[in-house]
Amino acid sequence: MLLLGLSKAWATHEASAEFGAAGRAMGNPPASAAPDVERVQSVEMDVLPGDGTVAIDEFVRARRETIRYHEALYRSARLGTRGSWLAHPHPLVMDSLGLVTRPVHAYDLGAGVGRHTLPMVAGLPSGSRVTAVDLIPSALASLVENAAAAGLSDRVEAVNADLESWAFPADDAGLIIAFSALEHVSSLDAFCAILERCRAATIPGGVNLIGIVADREEVSSSGARRAALIELSLSGEQALSVLRRCFTGWEIHVDETNPAAVTEERNGAQHELRSTLIKFVAQAPH
Ligand SMILES: C[S@@+](CC[C@H](N)C(=O)[O-])C[C@H]1O[C@@H](n2cnc3c(N)ncnc32)[C@H](O)[C@@H]1O
Repeated sequence: MLLLGLSKAWATHEASAEFGAAGRAMGNPPASAAPDVERVQSVEMDVLPGDGTVAIDEFVRARRETIRYHEALYRSARLGTRGSWLAHPHPLVMDSLGLVTRPVHAYDLGAGVGRHTLPMVAGLPSGSRVTAVDLIPSALASLVENAAAAGLSDRVEAVNADLESWAFPADDAGLIIAFSALEHVSSLDAFCAILERCRAATIPGGVNLIGIVADREEVSSSGARRAALIELSLSGEQALSVLRRCFTGWEIHVDETNPAAVTEERNGAQHELRSTLIKFVAQAPH
């Protein structure tokens, strides 16, 4: 395997966080057309080498970058850090908590440092608990600290695992959240298999919330476009089509796409990382 040196850039992330209120049926227009643009602090990102020629195992390289990027971010920014995407939970998550009306066992897949885990525990009906799963041990160590600081330790369990091989301990999920996590698996088959496991683990009336950053591409200042570095390069259409197929027969509360963009400077030249944020919330039949 030939390892290429990865160039680095400082990127400023601007992601559209426009949210369609939970409870809206699939296909209906957003309640508000006003975009709520979330500006995220500059972070150091690895980018594809200059000519885009790739001679190594793409998955290994993308996974290595996923770990490096998140470890660096979690070291430099804490939950609530203004200007970072850790500043606050995504509104899609907060609005969806209202769909859960009794105490549940909830799961936060790819939980990071607990941006959603903690508000889930605090916002779900009393008696609920959350299992948070993540690949990165240091992320979970911070999550555990954050839970303790919020007095929520007894209702949070942290599990260090790769979602691709992890199985739900029981078919008891009243809520499953996977926000910007499932695009970090090795194949479309693995993506589908995880969704199937989520579906199977959900109790009647339970809710699944999936956020996917799809259609990731880099656009150089000269307009040249190429795929961005990510384990599973999903198109928005692919992601939505798999989600709709997997959750056939469920009530679809949110089924939306929003454009997102990351502007970065590399060697003095501007590049843009473009993507589509897929937001999907489905509820199992009662
Ligand atoms: C973009 S962050 C999102 C974190 C959290 N969901 C949030 O919205 O704040 C993606 C997280 O998924 C985790 N992750 C990536 N691939 C994973 C995998 N295959 N299994 C488990 N966790 C994974 C990363 O370690 C990282 O913490």
